[in-house]
Amino acid sequence: MNNNNAHSSISLDTKTIPTISSTATVASGGTKKLLTIIGIIVIVVLILANTGVLIADLIIRYKTVDSEGQVTTVTTTSAATTSAMTTTVTGGYSNSLNGLNSAELYDPSIGVWTSTGNMNSMRYGHTASVLTNGKVLVSGGTPNNTACWNQAELYDPSTGVWTSTGNMNYQRYMPQASVLTNGKALVTSGDSCSSGLLNSAELYNPSTGVWTSTGNMNYARYRHASSVLTNGKVLVTGGVGGGGGGGYLNSAELYDPSTGAWTSTSNMNYARQLDTSSVLTNGIVLVTGGSNGTSAINTCELYNP
Ligand SMILES: *[C@@H]1O[C@H](CO)[C@@H](O)[C@H](O)[C@H]1NC(C)=O
Ligand SMILES: *[C@@H]1O[C@H](CO)[C@@H](O)[C@H](O)[C@H]1NC(C)=O
Repeated sequence: MNNNNAHSSISLDTKTIPTISSTATVASGGTKKLLTIIGIIVIVVLILANTGVLIADLIIRYKTVDSEGQVTTVTTTSAATTSAMTTTVTGGYSNSLNGLNSAELYDPSIGVWTSTGNMNSMRYGHTASVLTNGKVLVSGGTPNNTACWNQAELYDPSTGVWTSTGNMNYQRYMPQASVLTNGKALVTSGDSCSSGLLNSAELYNPSTGVWTSTGNMNYARYRHASSVLTNGKVLVTGGVGGGGGGGYLNSAELYDPSTGAWTSTSNMNYARQLDTSSVLTNGIVLVTGGSNGTSAINTCELYNP
């Protein structure tokens, strides 16, 4: 599992989030074994006019410089969710590549972060979604860049407490989650860590806490984006693929909740991983940025369902 540019973006309700990232590097000489520099933290908060829901996404990128001058860049995106007046940021990782279990709430009315209950599992590269019952579902990720989680847990905003819920059928690192209009959460693909990239998808039923498999995607992928269209279908774009569809993907596919099946739709103009997709108020999807493997890209494109 390659952790460079690890990214865990989220889908909230019917939305995913455009993100902006940049990197700051501070060169250092000296004899210290390891210098870790926190680069840039960018928080993008969007107010989505049609729902009034606030969404935030947090990207942390830093470089480590060892005594031989070797530079390693690490990027992570903390999954961030917002309901009503608060944002919850969960997990992420510390400089040792061990996941965090801490979570924080952001109150946009005063611009202040406060700690809330710890998750049961340390993790990064997970998903976080606000369910229609107001709880936050967190799933997958890794605790330590070695094993991957199939564990999922729920945050109750009224108590600030995390409780375990049913395990997913597969361990998934950097999958995507989207909350369907029927209230179920769809989690797509990801890296299984032990057996490569997944093309499987599964549904979480909030009323039973149980995960069930649904149709397989056309491409195994992770570091992709997903969003729920105004017609209720889920659009998945880009990412890094496995097997025959390997490399950086420009492919896009649609999930139909009424049949549980995936169908290919037209390719994007650019292959991209770590992209974001957002459903605009006119129903058109805006896909932004990401990386093509050699560099971050600033191209954006529109998808008309
Ligand atoms: C990673 O975490 C898993 C699950 O907790 C654990 O079994 C494994 O020993 C850990 N590996 C390392 C290298 O820390
Ligand atoms: C990646 O994007 C950069 C910047 O747009 C471009 O120069 C480069 O050719 C692209 N690489 C690939 C493999 O598409």
